[in-house]
Amino acid sequence: MLNKLFSYFSEDIAIDLGTANSRVYVRGRGIIFQEPSVVAVNQKTGQILAIGADAKKMVGRTPTHVTAIRPLINGVISDFEVTEQMLRYFLEKAQKKKFILGPRPRVIIGIPCGVTEVEKKAAYDAAKNAGARQAFLIEEPMAAAIGARLPIEEAGGNFIVDIGGGTTEIAVISLGGTVIAKSLRIAGDKLNEDIINHSQEEYKLLIGERTAEEIKIAIGSAFPLKEKKEMPLRGRNLVTGLPEEILVSDEDIRKALEKSVRQIVSAVKLMIEETPPELLSDIMKRGIHLAGGGALLRRLDTLITKEIKIPTEIIDDPMTAVVRGAGLVLENLDELEKVLVGTEYLEPPQ
Ligand SMILES: Nc1ncnc2c1ncn2[C@@H]1O[C@H](COP(=O)(O)OP(=O)(O)OP(=O)(O)O)[C@@H](O)[C@H]1O
Ligand SMILES: [Mg+2]
Repeated sequence: MLNKLFSYFSEDIAIDLGTANSRVYVRGRGIIFQEPSVVAVNQKTGQILAIGADAKKMVGRTPTHVTAIRPLINGVISDFEVTEQMLRYFLEKAQKKKFILGPRPRVIIGIPCGVTEVEKKAAYDAAKNAGARQAFLIEEPMAAAIGARLPIEEAGGNFIVDIGGGTTEIAVISLGGTVIAKSLRIAGDKLNEDIINHSQEEYKLLIGERTAEEIKIAIGSAFPLKEKKEMPLRGRNLVTGLPEEILVSDEDIRKALEKSVRQIVSAVKLMIEETPPELLSDIMKRGIHLAGGGALLRRLDTLITKEIKIPTEIIDDPMTAVVRGAGLVLENLDELEKVLVGTEYLEPPQ
């Protein structure tokens, strides 16, 4: 009875705790904010100076005793205490005053597929310690598929690829469950790294992570573009030590990204090869669905369609699919409880 009352009043929250960005959905209100998953910490005192967008601005620009930490690596918690603080900040920000006055929220957190029990427990504990009344976990590809409104409950194959910052997750979903899934540690962050390495090797130019990401978003592609794109790349010449600006083209950047892009496409191909034939025929009809920020790399959908010969499309608003899906589960917890990750420490919905 008390639980029912709690559930009625509590502002339940779904969180996509991403390697690059976190998004927060409140039951009945929708997505209320998204922030980079970055925390600035004063190493001398251990004090947290900023979280989210404010902390991201500090990346690469901090004095030596201040570090901007990304507490998640490849989608899993690498710094438990900082993650917990970040979650607490998100929960408080999501609930305003009610955090103190109302019942504590139930929280659903998206986790990569194929993580270990220890990693799942870390996400669960972080949510509980940050103030959740109950915590539930959902695998990100499942959440993305629900967010994309794919018919996951039907007896038919749905193929989803979520390319985030830290991981690319590929899953085949049918009858409300994951049939096969794989998580690959090659995604947006790796592409940034590729651009950094390429500039050093090809142009002897040292560039930062932010510059690499800007270039990738501005002119990056997986397949030749119809119109040529160029952009100045600013960095430090490794030989002279002086600042330098060079002009790079979409072709240069495509070359830098080629190896990692190939690895992503190969992983998709392998998963198609492993898909049971019955489900494959559905997938050939329904196509391959791309989610996550990495799906926005120009013409990646074209490359996958060409290589795998299955129509591939980017879902609407690919970066928020996971949190929207987790939010839909929150809105229909009784009905969709079965899609949550079952582990011994999960609690039944109330
Ligand atoms: N237009 C774009 N073109 C290419 N990459 C992009 C574009 N926009 C965003 N990205 C990349 O998408 C990644 C972030 O995607 P997303 O927010 O889905 O990741 P995440 O959920 O935080 O990470 P993960 O799911 O791996 O934990 C970043 O690497 C970013 O550079
Ligand atoms: Mg993600």
